[in-house]
Amino acid sequence: MPAGFQQLGGETLTGTFVLSVFTAVLGSLEFGYNIGVINAPQKIIEADYNATWVHRYGEPIPTGTLTSLWSLSVAIFSIGGMLSSFCVGFISEWLGRRKAMLINNMFAFIGGSLMGLSKLCRSFEMLILGRFIIGIYCGLSSGLTPMYVGEIAPTSLRGALGTLHQLAIVTGILIAQVLGLESLLGVEDLWPVLLGIAIVPAVFQMALLPFCPESPRFLYIVRCQEHQAKRGLRRLTGRQEVGSMLAEMKEEKRKMDMERKVSILELFRSPLYRQPIIISILLQLSQQLSGVNAIFYYSTSIFMKAGVQSPVYATIGAGVVNCAFTVVSLFLIERMGRRTLHMLGLGGMCICAIVMTTALALLDSVPWMSYISMLSIFGFVAFFEIGPGPIPWFYVAELFSQGPRPAAMAVAGFSNWTANFIIGMCFQYVADLCGPYVFLIFAALLLFFLIFTFFRVPETRGKTFDQIAANFDQHSTTGMMDMDMDMDLDKPSTELDYLGEESIN
Ligand SMILES: *[C@@H]1O[C@H](CO)[C@@H](O)[C@H](O)[C@H]1NC(C)=O
Repeated sequence: MPAGFQQLGGETLTGTFVLSVFTAVLGSLEFGYNIGVINAPQKIIEADYNATWVHRYGEPIPTGTLTSLWSLSVAIFSIGGMLSSFCVGFISEWLGRRKAMLINNMFAFIGGSLMGLSKLCRSFEMLILGRFIIGIYCGLSSGLTPMYVGEIAPTSLRGALGTLHQLAIVTGILIAQVLGLESLLGVEDLWPVLLGIAIVPAVFQMALLPFCPESPRFLYIVRCQEHQAKRGLRRLTGRQEVGSMLAEMKEEKRKMDMERKVSILELFRSPLYRQPIIISILLQLSQQLSGVNAIFYYSTSIFMKAGVQSPVYATIGAGVVNCAFTVVSLFLIERMGRRTLHMLGLGGMCICAIVMTTALALLDSVPWMSYISMLSIFGFVAFFEIGPGPIPWFYVAELFSQGPRPAAMAVAGFSNWTANFIIGMCFQYVADLCGPYVFLIFAALLLFFLIFTFFRVPETRGKTFDQIAANFDQHSTTGMMDMDMDMDLDKPSTELDYLGEESIN
């Protein structure tokens, strides 16, 4: 066995494979970094917006205008992500996975530079534009990274490696929070560096990608280039004999060819898909409207209002809890049902939101309530990572078979980013309006999603598509007598094994 090889789960991992996974996951790290980065420096960047305004117009910025500009700076990121997440399917087939990731880095480069230079140029427009462009990067990378990693991973490791994407995102958030400390980069002169540093992972990814092979699965299944696919497989596995892996891909290709691609419009028209797509959308909404991004975008100012003494450290605490429970959830997901975990997460978040509100309301009379509110925010984040964080994506992958899945993924991604935008844009306004009671809105939404999950969402873990479809049949009033019926219901139940191998993250 050549040097540099490692054993994991009975699989031999080559240096090329480890390098490829690491390189791809840098994209997820970048994604997380840009979610977390605008949290800590909010006040100092706002002060700079004000200074720019004074410089330009000779008067201080009106408070309302400042809130609008900041909310836009936060939320326009999601508009970029929304637009580009829609293009992942198209771009990844057109350019290939690897070249798509390579070219995507241009967006990170341009976005990071615009943000980094905005102070120098006294232009908040540049910062806002930079956030938009880096949002485009993140939308693409949130699709491309799991796709590439899922495709190059050996079957037995696909699930475990898929979770690396999620882990890298929360690590990125944490890194951003730590670098945002006042003792590091979270000060008046250095915040452009904090935002501009976003180009670093992109530079690394660009430098390393040429050493990573294109996904053999893509080369074979989409491009029908058997020879190149074989070469890629040899590099990734370190074995000369790759016949069995190629046979597995042949089987996958055969299954894919059997199913017609379903368009987004059909997804909503056909009674067969209507219920699953509504469930997928609502689960995505439950992830974003749970209010977790209100924490990741605005926690420093929330902690400040809650009277926590060092709000930036509390924000970092939330980041650490987030990382820790992402790991915890990896173990839980293998053992408990999706539905159970999702309801547990939603219920826990709902209770934490109520406790937090109560604590904030009592803050004036009972000073130690600031600790209770801090702990309930930690609990809020922990329950998020147990349920609404990871679970919605499992459902999209498990409710839809190969044919409708790409369309379903696009719709789910779009709903997710849209809700993300709404939270980023509106939270500050609503928080100014409702004061400490803002999280009661999230509590009400969480309760709604909990009830919805209880009555409408089936358990999908370890079930075949037939069994899941039969479940909808019982609930559905329209019945399943539809022209598309043969597409899913006639599937052999070997689909079970097939699904188990799917890359799900
Ligand atoms: C803007 O800066 C001026 C001082 O230059 C200050 O008086 C004013 O309160 C600031 N406005 C806001 C909204 O922070």
